[in-house]
Amino acid sequence: MTDLRDEISELKKQRRAVILGHNYQRQEVQEIADFLGDSYGLSVQASKTDAKVIVFCGVDFMAESAKILNPEKTVLHPNRRAQCPMAAMVDVKSLNELKAEHPGAPVVAYVNTTADVKAEADICCTSANAVKIVQSLPDKKIIFIPDTNLGLYVQRFVKDKEIILWPGYCPTHVNITKMDLQELKRKHPDAEILVHPECTPDVIDYADFAYSTEGIIRHVVASKKKEFIIGTEENMLHRLRKEAPGKLLYAPPNATCPNMREITLEDVRDALSKMQYKIELPPDIIRRAKVPLERMIEAGRSQ
Ligand code: 13P
Ligand code: SF4
Repeated sequence: MTDLRDEISELKKQRRAVILGHNYQRQEVQEIADFLGDSYGLSVQASKTDAKVIVFCGVDFMAESAKILNPEKTVLHPNRRAQCPMAAMVDVKSLNELKAEHPGAPVVAYVNTTADVKAEADICCTSANAVKIVQSLPDKKIIFIPDTNLGLYVQRFVKDKEIILWPGYCPTHVNITKMDLQELKRKHPDAEILVHPECTPDVIDYADFAYSTEGIIRHVVASKKKEFIIGTEENMLHRLRKEAPGKLLYAPPNATCPNMREITLEDVRDALSKMQYKIELPPDIIRRAKVPLERMIEAGRSQ
C-alpha cells in the first residue's frame, strides 16, 4: 500500500497533477487526495487549480464538470465504471419535451446530470446551494432536474414558486429508510440525525438537519454534541472520524454507493502513469454547459 502511495505521489509531481476526491471515495483514495469535498467544493477547486492535469476521483458527471470548467486542462477519470445512475435518468430529448410543455420556465439542473443535459440548462445547482439558486430566480415556474427528492426539499423553502419535478432519484439515498434511522435513534437516543437532501421526504422530516456532504462534515465538526446518525453514503464516516475525532458516529445499513467505490488506488496510479481515461467533450457542449455551471459557482454555497 505504501509503495503504491509513493508511486502516486511521484507520478503526481511528474505530471503536475492535482487529485480531487469526493467525500464518498474509499478511505485509501481519500487519503491520497489533495482536496476532498462535496460537488460544489470540488467544482470550485476545479475552476481555480493551476495544475496541468486533474485526476478526478468521483463519478462521471463530476469529472465532466471539471473538464467543462477547464477545457484546456487534461482531466482524468481513473475508472469509467464510476458513473452516477441518477445522472443517467435524464436525457436531452425528454428534457426538451418537458421544456416544450412549460415554455419560458428556466431549467435548474442538479450537477448530477450529463454534460449535454447541462448544455440545455439555465443554471446548475448542488445540494449545497439548490435552495439559494431556486430562490434567486425571478420566475414563478421552474423546471428542476433530475432529483425529485432534492426538488421536493427545495419546495419546502420556496413556497412562491411552482417547481416542475423530474422522476429521477438516487438509488443509494432512497435505500436509507425512516425505520433504519428510528432503529439507530432507539439505540442512541442522544444522537443528532443528519441526512442528505437526496433522501426521501419522510426521512428528511425525521432528521434534525439535511445538508450536502460537506455541510454534514461542517456541522459535526462545529457541534458541541457527541453523537450523530449520518444518513448518507457510509464512506463519509472516514473523513468525519479524522476531522471530528472523539465523536460517535452511526450509519444506517445499506447506505453505499457502489459507483463511487469503483475507483481504487491502482486505478489512480494507472490514470497518472498511462494518462487515462481522458474526459473528452465536444467543444460546443463545453461552451454551452460552462454557462450554467459558472452561474452556479458565482451563486456560492448556502450550506
Ligand atoms: P454532495 O454534493 O452533497 O457531495 O452530493 C453528491 C452526491 O452525489 C450525493 O449523492
Ligand atoms: Fe449518484 Fe447517488 Fe452515488 Fe451520489 S450517491 S453518486 S447521487 S448514485
